[in-house]
Amino acid sequence: MTRPTILINFAISADGKISTVNRNPSQFTSAHDHKRLLEIRKQADALLVGRGTLEADNMSMTIPADMQPRRQPLRCIASRSGKFDSEHKVFRTPGGALHLLVTEPAEVNEFGPLEALGAAIHLCSLEDFLRILVIEHGVKTLLCEGGGTLVRSLASLEAIDEVHLTWAGHTLFGGENAPTITGELSSHLPASIQFELTHFEPLENGECFLSYRKAPPDS
Ligand SMILES: NC(=O)c1ccc[n+]([C@@H]2O[C@H](COP(=O)([O-])OP(=O)(O)OC[C@H]3O[C@@H](n4cnc5c(N)ncnc54)[C@H](OP(=O)(O)O)[C@@H]3O)[C@@H](O)[C@H]2O)c1
Repeated sequence: MTRPTILINFAISADGKISTVNRNPSQFTSAHDHKRLLEIRKQADALLVGRGTLEADNMSMTIPADMQPRRQPLRCIASRSGKFDSEHKVFRTPGGALHLLVTEPAEVNEFGPLEALGAAIHLCSLEDFLRILVIEHGVKTLLCEGGGTLVRSLASLEAIDEVHLTWAGHTLFGGENAPTITGELSSHLPASIQFELTHFEPLENGECFLSYRKAPPDS
């Protein structure tokens, strides 16, 4: 499968959840964690989020100018239905070129035609989209910032190379249906994917930065 190197980044609660059962916005970690996210963003040629995360976290998907990015990464958003609201902040904020993946376009879209969004529209599968990013847009490194539904699709394709987590020991969300980094716990991946720990950095504030790299096949 032709695809970029794919990194994912999440903050997780002490009980391994990325949000509450009500999918509240993810603002439960420190400014230090946010700075680390921006540093990881600087490594990426493209950012990718699911529409759920874009909306829950009201994202603009940019790197602030004072962090002196070499350039703004492409901003990629995945949706099955293609129901993007043109009033959303991401369409109103300057930044990297917008690329929208729509896998199962809705017959009726109350938000109007996708072409009016000022973005490149890709009507294809997630797998094909990843290939197009490499071949047509030179994307070598892609950072997926969630959510769990989208990351589960990446995991099903075995398309995750690095996992960056901020483990927040100060927060418990609980709730069987609160999502994890691969979505709800009700269904499992067909097989485990092995990762090895590459970075372990406990902070004084009850958080811990963790990084993992996909383990070689026969390890
Ligand atoms: N703690 C953290 O670091 C962190 C990070 C990210 C998100 N979150 C939280 O996670 C929650 C959102 O979770 P979520 O699972 O709903 O988010 P999500 O994966 O961002 O969004 C789900 C939506 O994305 C689209 N999508 C997902 N997989 C797709 C695929 N394979 N192909 C095409 N489109 C796909 C679909 O959009 P359509 O409905 O348009 O078809 C789907 O309904 C929020 O509470 C957010 O704050 C937390």
